[in-house]
Parts: sequence; structure tokens; C-alpha cells
Amino acid sequence: MSQVMQAIAAQRSAIDAALVRLCDETTGAFTPRVAEAVRYSLLGEGKRLRGFLVIHGYQACGGGGDVTALAAAVEVVHAYSLVHDDLPCMDDDDMRRGRPTVHRAFDVPVATATGLAMVPLAAWAGYRAGRLLGLTPHEAGAIVRELMKAAGGGGMIGGQLLDLEAEGRTMGLEELERIHRGKTGALIEVSVRMGAMAARADAERVAALGRYGAAIGLAFQIADDVLDVTATTDQLGKTAGRDIALNKSTYPALLGIEGAKSRASALVDDALASLRGAGIASPALEALARYAIERRS
Ligand code: IPE
Ligand code: IPE
Ligand code: MG
Ligand code: MG
Ligand code: MG
Repeated sequence: MSQVMQAIAAQRSAIDAALVRLCDETTGAFTPRVAEAVRYSLLGEGKRLRGFLVIHGYQACGGGGDVTALAAAVEVVHAYSLVHDDLPCMDDDDMRRGRPTVHRAFDVPVATATGLAMVPLAAWAGYRAGRLLGLTPHEAGAIVRELMKAAGGGGMIGGQLLDLEAEGRTMGLEELERIHRGKTGALIEVSVRMGAMAARADAERVAALGRYGAAIGLAFQIADDVLDVTATTDQLGKTAGRDIALNKSTYPALLGIEGAKSRASALVDDALASLRGAGIASPALEALARYAIERRS
């Protein structure tokens, strides 16, 4: 791991502390099983990539406050998406982040409710994080609106629906790209943009960081498809080979493993070019772009 990535990874404990605080403050109002399952989902060994993107989008735009609570809000949306992605009616997975999925550790009704409870939790956490950073109600509201839009039917959930509908059917690259940009790209893109918005960056910078985020978001899902066929369950902490078992369309299926890797690497080059084009010098965002495709899990 590069020195820059090591420094970024050290911020993980701050994001996790914000997640623990959020659980302590909110889940007392939930039924005990759901409260326990929310905590289980949030505190699993994820990579916290989206949280890091919030932090470094913010810092790249000159933000000087503590943005970890906003990073945690995005991680709540991401963790919820995993809880539901693993349900038997979706990808029907038994393992996530190195342990049983939420519906295996608890049950399907609890996992369903847990995922649903996490959406308003994320919206509340995001709004409050923005206000604590000193943003106006309007500014904090605009950030949450972007997050919810990216998570919604035109973004992550839209992509998830298309992904499920497409099982067992072959499709072209254009359609697959649309699915991947939706199910995974949208949340990664909005993470960086939210950081920039929290730093009150101008529209041009927010847009440039959005292009960076969209490119690494697609690259990240291509890498996920590649890892699904090249890595082991142990390395991934989730069941390897799931895409073939579920008859999913993937980049390696369409382009081969080497073709998929070179597409992902071209996207990372595009992402770095977006930063340069906007005069954004951020070793952290550069390192995160490379990490999106070079990671082993
Ligand atoms: C997994 O995302 C789901 C996809 C969008 C591919 P991550 O690989 O970021 O999952 P965690 O957070 O590290 O567990
Ligand atoms: C997941 O894509 C996208 C979301 C969770 C929104 P995958 O279904 O490929 O993710 P994994 O491989 O189960 O983590
Ligand atoms: Mg899926
Ligand atoms: Mg899945
Ligand atoms: Mg996958």
C-alpha cells in the first residue's frame, strides 16, 4: 500500500467512531433486533472508500472542518445497499465483509427492515453533519437531496433493478455500462461531490469532481466484476463466483479479464485528467482512484 493510501486508511477509525456514535444516538428508538442488525451492518469490515471520498473531496476543495460525520452518512447508504443486495430476492448471498450476511445472522424480515431503517437514518445523519460543519439549512438540505437522488430510482436503486432484470440475458456494453453507473457509480460520484459541496466549492469544481467520481465509480464496479472471478471468497469476505452462478452480465464476460482491466484503467486515467483539467491537486484523490482498481478485495 502506498504511503498516501496508508495515511488515508488511518482515517478509517474516525469514520467508524462516527458510525458508532450514530448508532448510540439513534437506534434506541428501533426494535432491539433491528437496532442490533443496523450496528452489525454498519460496523462490518468494509473498505470505507465512499467515506474517504467525502473526506478528500472536501479537503481538495479547501474544507478545513471535521467532515467525518458526513462521510459516515454516505457509508450508511452504502451499508444499507449491501444488506438488501444480499437478500434472497436479490443476489442471495451468505457472506459479506467476512461474516454472515444480515439476513443470515438475523433473518429476512429483520434484514429487510434494517435496510429500510437505514435510509432515513442516513438522511438525518447527513443533514446534521452539514449543520455541524456550519452549513446553512439550505446548504445542508441540498447535500442530502443529492445523496438521496443518487441512492434513488434514477441512481443506485435504478441500477439494482436493471441488474436483477438483466439476469440470464446477454446484453451489450452500453447497457451494462448504464447498469454499473447506476448501481455503483452514482453513490461513488455523489460521495466526492458531497465533500466538495460541504466545502462550498464552486459549480465548476463540483462538476469536475463529479466527473472524477463517475469515472472511478464505473471503474470500481468493473474491478468488482473482475475480482468476482479472480479472487477467493477468503480474500473478498463475500462469496466469489457469484456473478456466474447468478447469470449476471459482467465486464469480464463481455471483454475478457484483460479487456475489463484495461477499460477500468482507462477510466482511472480519465478521472485523473478531470482533476488536472480543473487544477485540483490532491494526492489523496489520485491514490483513491488507483486504489479503486488495484485493490485486492
Ligand atoms: C461492494 O462495495 C458493493 C459494490 C458496489 C461493488 P465495496 O467493495 O466498497 O464494499 P465494502 O464496503 O468494502 O464492504
Ligand atoms: C452491488 O453490486 C451494487 C450495490 C450493492 C448497490 P454487486 O452485487 O456486484 O456487489 P457485491 O459483489 O455483491 O458486493
Ligand atoms: Mg448485486
Ligand atoms: Mg451482490
Ligand atoms: Mg459483485
